Amino acid sequence: MSRKSTKQVKIFDTTLRDGEQCPGASMGLREKLEVARQLARLKVDIIEAGFPIASPGDFEAVKAVAEQVKGPVIAGLARCLEKDIVRAAEAVAPAGDKARIHVFLATSAIHRQFKLRKAKEEIIKQAVAGVKMAKKYVDDVQFSPEDASRTEPEFLADVCRAVIAAGATTINIPDTVGYAVPEQFGALIGYLNEHVDGIEDVTVHVHCHNDLGLAVANSLAAVKNGARGIECTINGLGERAGNCSLEEVVMAMRTRHDFYDLRTGVKTQEIYRASRLVSQLTGMVVQRNKAIVGANAFAHESGIHQDGMLKERTTYEIMRPEDVGISGTELVLGKHSGRHAFANHLSKLGFKLSEQELVAAFESFIELADKKKSIYDDDLVAIVQQQMTEPPPVYTLKYLHVSTGSDTVPTATVRLQRNDDVMQDAACGDGPVDAALKTIDRICNLQGRLEDFSLQAITKGKDALGEVSLRVTFDDRIVNGKASSTDIVEAAARAYLNCVNRHLVDTQDAKPAKKTTKKPRAKSRKKKQ
Ligand code: KIV
Ligand code: ZN
Repeated sequence: MSRKSTKQVKIFDTTLRDGEQCPGASMGLREKLEVARQLARLKVDIIEAGFPIASPGDFEAVKAVAEQVKGPVIAGLARCLEKDIVRAAEAVAPAGDKARIHVFLATSAIHRQFKLRKAKEEIIKQAVAGVKMAKKYVDDVQFSPEDASRTEPEFLADVCRAVIAAGATTINIPDTVGYAVPEQFGALIGYLNEHVDGIEDVTVHVHCHNDLGLAVANSLAAVKNGARGIECTINGLGERAGNCSLEEVVMAMRTRHDFYDLRTGVKTQEIYRASRLVSQLTGMVVQRNKAIVGANAFAHESGIHQDGMLKERTTYEIMRPEDVGISGTELVLGKHSGRHAFANHLSKLGFKLSEQELVAAFESFIELADKKKSIYDDDLVAIVQQQMTEPPPVYTLKYLHVSTGSDTVPTATVRLQRNDDVMQDAACGDGPVDAALKTIDRICNLQGRLEDFSLQAITKGKDALGEVSLRVTFDDRIVNGKASSTDIVEAAARAYLNCVNRHLVDTQDAKPAKKTTKKPRAKSRKKKQ
């Protein structure tokens, strides 16, 4: 059976590679591993874990994912250069027979002339050599002619033919600059299917960028014309305007099965959790009206719609929120519920926590249940994801008091603990958040610069958890952090402390924390568990 006659479309997730190229969305090793584990739970077919030659951090991340994440194929990106390919091969090797090397080389006239200064024949020669070299290390070799959508179709066909003959098993057609439009891009895939000998023996992928907002539409046009792999990212993260959004393209094929007659292996009930996790770890907030995973995606505001929904859900709903893992169910647990019932509910939500993580999550749950009347599954997801993704707490927040008002100079008092030391300080600021963050800086002897601040309500009601996402630079290093609380100043302070801890862990900074002359209050001087 030719590959294009299969009904199965492979999902190649590149959140950890192209997604991470999104300005400000960089992740450390811990974060990348968390995302990769969630991608495995989501059952994507291939995880592109990074570009190993790009930096030692990228190399380590690809290697760690290849070692620890089981299920999907693990790919590492490489230019058609020996040093790149050797490095990628080393990084993906622990994945064994699930290792893939993805080599790429630009083919368009613009790139040939201005970037590479190479003639067509030289491009073919280098592409073939790259594939052959990668083949020495792994069976599974993917080739991408970068800027394919702006390449002369005849030349693109020549390149594809040559790399298939050299052993490529997947050909990926990128719309690198998001220039394509659906009819044309679909036709290009159709053309390649017609004109490239051997194409029926390989899988054709597409990799669409969203510069014109057409990445999903172009990917769908491609599968309609025989492509059988879609490269995409969670929340559509990626260079510039991003990549094709995984959640949108997967749900489009699922919801419009009548039209596409195609399927993916994605466990769609894990989509929302993946979206929240990536947003949490990159600090890239998901817009409220984003399709599938935005806060308003399943909210019906107008009376006519609400009335229709009550009479028959399908009048205004084409997908069920449960299908993407949004339950909205009110948790029947309260602050008097035991840990066993709590753990049970978490496991129904798909979380498997270690005993230690469970204890910490339960503590946060009890704290929240004290402040908030109704607890939703989303609150729980926020607690658990925060727990799982928080860096080791170099500093923990022990006390926060802020006085503010229209006629008051906003002042914060903060108490932090580092190992057995409890430190306290106070500072004024332009507002309560500024005051709290300045105080944390004073205690930690750091000077963070706040680059981005956003606040979102996680669930409904005035007592909803407020989630603060921050982007902070410390000595030119960008760090993202998130935290939630029913008190937004506390959420900001915790998110900032998250950034501080992440920075200290990443830089392994052993700078001693500055101790204040003030004595901490007796209660907090106790050595902690
Ligand atoms: O957009 C692009 O062309 C890429 C390639 C490396 C596949 O990301
Ligand atoms: Zn790309």
